Amino acid sequence: MITKDIAYIGVQDHSIDLFEGQYTVPNGMAYNSYLITDEKTAVMDTVDSRFVEQWLDNIRAVLNGAAPDYLVVHHMEPDHSSGIAAFMQAYPSATVVASRMAFVMMKNYFGSDFADRRIIVSEGSTLSLGRHQLTFVTAPMVHWPEVMVSYDACDKVLFSADGFGKFGALDADEDWACEARRYYIGIVGKYGAQVQDLLKKAATLDIAIICPLHGPVLKENLGYYIDLYDTWSSYRPESKGVLIAYTSVYGHTKQAVELLAETLESLGCEKVSVTDLAREDMAEAVEDAFRYDRIVLATTTYNGDIFPYMREFIHHLTERNFQNRTVALIENGSWAPQAAKVMTKMLEQCQNLTFVQPQVKLQCALSDASRECIAQLAQALCK
Ligand code: FEO
Repeated sequence: MITKDIAYIGVQDHSIDLFEGQYTVPNGMAYNSYLITDEKTAVMDTVDSRFVEQWLDNIRAVLNGAAPDYLVVHHMEPDHSSGIAAFMQAYPSATVVASRMAFVMMKNYFGSDFADRRIIVSEGSTLSLGRHQLTFVTAPMVHWPEVMVSYDACDKVLFSADGFGKFGALDADEDWACEARRYYIGIVGKYGAQVQDLLKKAATLDIAIICPLHGPVLKENLGYYIDLYDTWSSYRPESKGVLIAYTSVYGHTKQAVELLAETLESLGCEKVSVTDLAREDMAEAVEDAFRYDRIVLATTTYNGDIFPYMREFIHHLTERNFQNRTVALIENGSWAPQAAKVMTKMLEQCQNLTFVQPQVKLQCALSDASRECIAQLAQALCK
């Protein structure tokens, strides 16, 4: 139980290969759902399609077979909405409560928008269950346009949809921030302004418990989580440190990166994180780019462009509004290096980037000149 009246009825997914079709989740995924028992009962969201029967069993177990009155839908992404049609079929007397846009999506997903069994809610709408009264707060683009969150003033609970979620099933024994950050930056990172808007609305509420759709229920030290969300959504670096993200075809660019990392460490740089974009988790690299205040991009010239993994990485950054960071570039090219020029062009749209000099140019392999250049770059990055 979350509180005397609010039960957890979510499911744990340990068989998923890629969450949302792209994110590795070594510790699985939780699809959370909650049930509020009062004079009227309300189920808060559904679960992924592979777990709908298990979720319906969870509802039956809590209600001893009684029928719930409401299904509240905060978000229509299928990891939370796949059970709507089965729920409405299992409980013909139930009413579904959602935003107008969510009902449009229901029609598109299920062929029905449940026109005779629905309540359309919008900003500030309320739903009384008895002692518990839910107030709905719209949260467009956190992370889809139809999203809303709801607040139960009785138990001071915020049902926060994807907000404050993380990768990992609930039995994962791991640091919250690490997988919450990778989740946030990857999935919601583009929508910082919209998250800021939601945080402003949430600041007017007296919140004791946050019930997200993924990851653990948050009951203590809520300021810690809210502060992290404020940092992430305002695109401020969270920590001092240098991420060196690289690709290397035959190892020469890698040697330059290793030399830079060693030099930065010898100079006492707070944190140096190195990632091979072709071999390591792209989402982790993107997370670290937003986590630290400095980034070094090192890649080869390739087909008159840059190496594909670096192109993909920079695209992940720019589409998430990468900004407010210090950037350094290392390029390699055996006959006509131009990777730095391509990378600079790709980053043109980003706000408030400071490019650190010198740019390092490798022609084939490290040379005395490029070693000296790396030493100077390390000094400049540590200033
Ligand atoms: Fe967990 Fe945007 O769905």
